[in-house]
Amino acid sequence: MRKKIVAGNWKCNTTVQEGVELAKSVSELVAKSGVKNVVVVLGTPFTHITSVVNTVDTKLVGVAAQNCAAEAKGAFTGEVSATMVKSTGAEYVILGHSERREYYGETSETLNKKVTLALANGLTPIYCCGEALSIREANEQNTYVKNQLDETIFNLSAEDFSKLAIAYEPIWAIGTGVTASTAQAQEMLAYIRGLIADKFGKVVAEETSILYGGSCNAKNAPELFSQPDIDGGLIGGASLKAEDFLGIITAY
Ligand code: 13P
Repeated sequence: MRKKIVAGNWKCNTTVQEGVELAKSVSELVAKSGVKNVVVVLGTPFTHITSVVNTVDTKLVGVAAQNCAAEAKGAFTGEVSATMVKSTGAEYVILGHSERREYYGETSETLNKKVTLALANGLTPIYCCGEALSIREANEQNTYVKNQLDETIFNLSAEDFSKLAIAYEPIWAIGTGVTASTAQAQEMLAYIRGLIADKFGKVVAEETSILYGGSCNAKNAPELFSQPDIDGGLIGGASLKAEDFLGIITAY
């Protein structure tokens, strides 16, 4: 059965010290809650990863980077390679977040390289996709998301593809307090699963974890997570407070 995943994306928030405190609280709360059916992941800034890995109970909480370089190594000042991320003890990497596509010019070509390097280094990519408001208003979200997938992770072999998770994050729902309706989220995730089935077969599609992200919180998570194709969430703002994040983790 495919995994349920609740992953926090801290984005560019918290000092190392604050991040360690937050990670410690999450790890303790998860241990106390006895949650076993959900994979919990903390997506921290690069600077925090090693400290967070050393803080959490890694049997209960996994750690993700929020990006990795499109090159394996070399003269790329300021970049952090997939090999480096892996060497911290992190197991996941968030790739293709709309903020990286929009503000840092990440293209499908770059993302292809990043996903490939992440997989080659044994990291699990959490690959993000999702449309802007204008595309939703024009009712072109399905074509848009299909193109994003076609140009990137649908180029992988079935074996590689089956190692990643997908997060659908409509840009208009990110950080806005306007979550996609349960029906909108379910409809898109079912659509994505259908595309996976067409491309890689039913078995792979059934095993792929597809998450929803965008203003997901402890209040709306139970309804969102009750849907058959929603396998968890990628959580921004609500992952910055341990109790709020736990509320989402325990929403199943
Ligand atoms: P919010 O939960 O703050 O809307 O952010 C979602 C997100 O971008 C997670 O990657």
